[in-house]
Amino acid sequence: MNDDIQSRLLQLRSQLQKAAYAYYVMDNPIMEDSVYDKLYRELEGLEKEYPLLITSDSPTQRVGDRPASQFVSVKHNIPLYSLANAFDFEELQQWEQKWQRVLEGEIPTHSGYVCELKIDGSAIALTYENGLLVRGTTRGDGVTGEEITQNIRTIRTIPLRLNLDNPPPIVEVRGESFLPLDTFDQINLEREKAGENLFANPRNAAAGTLRQLDSRIVAERKLDFFAYTLHIPNADNFELPTTQWEALELLQKMGFRVNPNRDLCADLQAVQNYFETWDEKRKKLPYLTDGAVVKLNDFPLQRELGFTQKFPRWAIALKYAAEEAPTVVKDIIVNVGRTGAVTPMAVMEPVQLAGTTVQRATLHNEDRVKELDIRVGDTVVIRKAGEIIPEVLRVLPELRPTKTIAYKMPETCPECGSTLIRPQDEAVLRCVNSSCPAILRGSLVHWASRNALDIQGLGEKNVILLLEHGLIKSIADIYSLTIKQIMELPRMGQRSAEKLVGAIAESKSQDYARVIYGLGIRFVGKVNAEILTQNFPTLEQLQTANFAKLQGVYGIGEEIAQSVVDWFRVEANQQLIETLKNAGLTFEQNQAAPTQTNSNITGKTFVITGTLPTLKRSEAAEKIKAAGGKVTNSVSKKTDYLLAGENAGSKLEKAKKLSIQELSEAQLLELLDKTT
Ligand code: IVH
Repeated sequence: MNDDIQSRLLQLRSQLQKAAYAYYVMDNPIMEDSVYDKLYRELEGLEKEYPLLITSDSPTQRVGDRPASQFVSVKHNIPLYSLANAFDFEELQQWEQKWQRVLEGEIPTHSGYVCELKIDGSAIALTYENGLLVRGTTRGDGVTGEEITQNIRTIRTIPLRLNLDNPPPIVEVRGESFLPLDTFDQINLEREKAGENLFANPRNAAAGTLRQLDSRIVAERKLDFFAYTLHIPNADNFELPTTQWEALELLQKMGFRVNPNRDLCADLQAVQNYFETWDEKRKKLPYLTDGAVVKLNDFPLQRELGFTQKFPRWAIALKYAAEEAPTVVKDIIVNVGRTGAVTPMAVMEPVQLAGTTVQRATLHNEDRVKELDIRVGDTVVIRKAGEIIPEVLRVLPELRPTKTIAYKMPETCPECGSTLIRPQDEAVLRCVNSSCPAILRGSLVHWASRNALDIQGLGEKNVILLLEHGLIKSIADIYSLTIKQIMELPRMGQRSAEKLVGAIAESKSQDYARVIYGLGIRFVGKVNAEILTQNFPTLEQLQTANFAKLQGVYGIGEEIAQSVVDWFRVEANQQLIETLKNAGLTFEQNQAAPTQTNSNITGKTFVITGTLPTLKRSEAAEKIKAAGGKVTNSVSKKTDYLLAGENAGSKLEKAKKLSIQELSEAQLLELLDKTT
């Protein structure tokens, strides 16, 4: 009897492990969620009944049921070295010359360099005995780390048992644990709501999470892992990899997630090309990277070169331009945005950061200001992550001059003087005076911006000029401006006035979706404006749609629906629409589309994610719409197809869970070809 149970348990564990590997590591599910859940519950049930048969590699044993009281320090069997840095091609060449000098003129032919992305996370070391995960540790100082096995077990892309038939007695794996960017944002959002301190960046968040005493919290945080180093100390009867490239492939086979964005480069020029190509592409990845790690591919050559006191001689980190820089705070101001949100900003001594000069950095909100205790005169470290506006990462208290004063957020709006409000559940202070000049200014700039009405020559400076001279008081007034009026303004000649009036006139033919986006209705971004105008092809329809109807549209959530309803209720907004209509702006969907019908596409709903090989996402969307399809921005049961490119993230995962059909760009083009 027990034998039957035992073999069923083994079978269940193996099936579940295979399914999880396919899902988490290979991104290629082989089992439906419902089947997985059913098998998982069966396993849980049996283990509850026969607790003595529970094994530590069972998928049910990823999360511990009680917190650890403290972590234990352990010495690493093999130290975790760090890497020497190079910042440009010249330094890379110097490194090559250096390792070649060590060989004293006898440079063997070798198979080149492996380039891997340098993931900005936290290094961890894993030990497997006879295939079973027995220990996981933090890097610590490289010699001694902390034992955090319990937490590491929660990471789904780390196998609890190696996928090898005859595993060597000891296998040591190293790699980077990290928090995906969207998870990081989500955690900070939740922390903000709960009034907790925010994590400064994903790296700190990952390191902090790994050192959480309660593995149940770690499990919620969704850490991930990329493996990059494999050590197998004594392996009789086991064919060892002889290159880093093979080691990475073996790691993947063993059940680890290995970063796919790697390359084998014959020489340094190829390495440099890899580095430059990824400087752009990495910005679209769902996790942070700060460079490339370049490793000699051949293990015999690596062994011959060995290590210096601190670094391997056979590897180097090629770092991207610093995205953090120190500077001094000259002033702290607040900026009132077009939604009335009051954002504190640090005005700083100009500093070079990731290729641009930066003078202002956001301090996000009142809580963050308090947490940083930032003061005028402070030396701070600022950082630019991806496209985001630079932010103040930390204050260096040891460099604080004497006699500084703590900063206090204003209680009244610096632009209109009305009392600022902090709505419940929000971290931001708001000016709620709808005629506040800052809100008006922000709305005008938004209206004229590139993705909205795209009025060239109507940027912030000219908006301010027009406002200051009383020529405009609302968006509608833009359309009655004359060349003569504008010419009379300081710094404006006839030519620029003519141009501006021309650009304003041209904006009248911008399409309906841009107009709706330009109105600046809260939560209605570009994509939502598209969705709204597709589903409510005339303003009349949009204006009269109630909450239920709006919310029923694919891609439109409660918050957006409510916001649209509220916006159209405001009388001043209704008047604005009237004036804009009279001025000749477009308030209905161009009915020319769809120009074709295509049974594969007409009426079908698409979501696009990731980087497509040749088309921009907007181009793919245009094609789909021209063939009568709809494009929405979030995956739901109503989605028919997910058009997925490289580095697709959470949308792809969700689509997989919902068994939504995936399309590659090539498959889409094929479907489009079938247009009748
Ligand atoms: S190899 C002896 N490969 O960068 C080999 N490190 O500055 C040393 N890192 O401590 C590490 N991605 O935390 C290696 N693909 C990668 C990496 C990587 C990120 C981190 C790692 C290491 C640090 C060195």
